[in-house]
Amino acid sequence: MAKQWLVFAMVLVLGTLVSVTTAASLATFIFGDSLAEVGNNNHLQYSLARSDYPWYGIDFTGRKATGRFTNGRTIGDILSEKLGTSSPPPYLSLSQNDDAILQGVNYASGGAGILKETGQYFIQRLTFDDQINYFKKTKERIGAKIGAQAANKLCNEATYFIGIGSNDYVNNFLQPFLPDGQQYTHDEFVELLTSTLEQQFSRLYQLGARKILFHGLGPLGCIPSQRVKSKTGQCLKRVNEWMMEFNSKVQKLINSLNKRLPNAQMMFADTYPAVLDLIENPTAYGFKVSNTSCCNVDTSIGGLCLPNSKLCSERKDYVFWDAFHPSDAANEVLAQKLFSSLSSSASAPSPSPSPSLPPKPE
Ligand SMILES: *[C@@H]1O[C@H](CO)[C@@H](O)[C@H](O)[C@H]1NC(C)=O
Repeated sequence: MAKQWLVFAMVLVLGTLVSVTTAASLATFIFGDSLAEVGNNNHLQYSLARSDYPWYGIDFTGRKATGRFTNGRTIGDILSEKLGTSSPPPYLSLSQNDDAILQGVNYASGGAGILKETGQYFIQRLTFDDQINYFKKTKERIGAKIGAQAANKLCNEATYFIGIGSNDYVNNFLQPFLPDGQQYTHDEFVELLTSTLEQQFSRLYQLGARKILFHGLGPLGCIPSQRVKSKTGQCLKRVNEWMMEFNSKVQKLINSLNKRLPNAQMMFADTYPAVLDLIENPTAYGFKVSNTSCCNVDTSIGGLCLPNSKLCSERKDYVFWDAFHPSDAANEVLAQKLFSSLSSSASAPSPSPSPSLPPKPE
């Protein structure tokens, strides 16, 4: 599930909102995996990709295990805080007639991937296609409340945050017992991922999405669940190279969609360098350990932090909370970095750092 460890999903969206004074009135829709999840899987009775038990949430308000895959807040939560807005609620927690959908919805689900087959062993999760189907339903419900034309406008003006793809590696391609890794070379696999994403982006566009922020993948070769596969506990170089390849292919796809689809304002946020820097230089950010997780997980059975796991004594010292996900303290650093780079790229017309905004048609 967790995987993507940089889901900063919300982050990006929020970044574009920084320049918009009416941020609170614009809706935000979030799609993704465990890095962005805020509790959808709590509603999937048979899902094995859940985190609504201790020690998850031990540093969240009220020490509550909400279904977030970390000890505290996600990057999206922290960005919402910075903007003074609230983190959109999980789709599956909403009642049929909830007015909250007018502000935004979070569809992210631990274990989800771009491909339908990704994360199958979790029994239940919302795949990216499922999430898009739920967005379509949301739009219909919005239309029932405010009329079809206003719903269209709301969807055109909303920001869409997408952080997905980590599970397609960690819980699919990189698992030797699953068929995709045996059947495809990496070149073929990344082509399958990007062609699937192209259809998914197009579908979102047809449903009215214009401002889409896609989070690139982080250096998954350095997450604890992958390091244990190296005899010396090092990052897996080949996996990191694949991440960079995926990122550059998605970046190209987004550039071409921006040219092809009228008024599309899609953006790719390259979070890879910031995450790698945090992992390689933890002390520069006030951390002590980045090569293993605070929660003493058993990576042979998945790597989530279970109620019988032992915790480290100082949670703030660790970049990773469990074998896949950053700690609240790491999310704080990453959210801050993303926030500043987005604010500067949103306000500066000059060449900007990693997350760069595409030229706006108007
Ligand atoms: C992490 O790094 C420290 C310091 O370099 C080392 O002593 C320790 O064995 C490493 N732990 C793992 C799990 O690789």
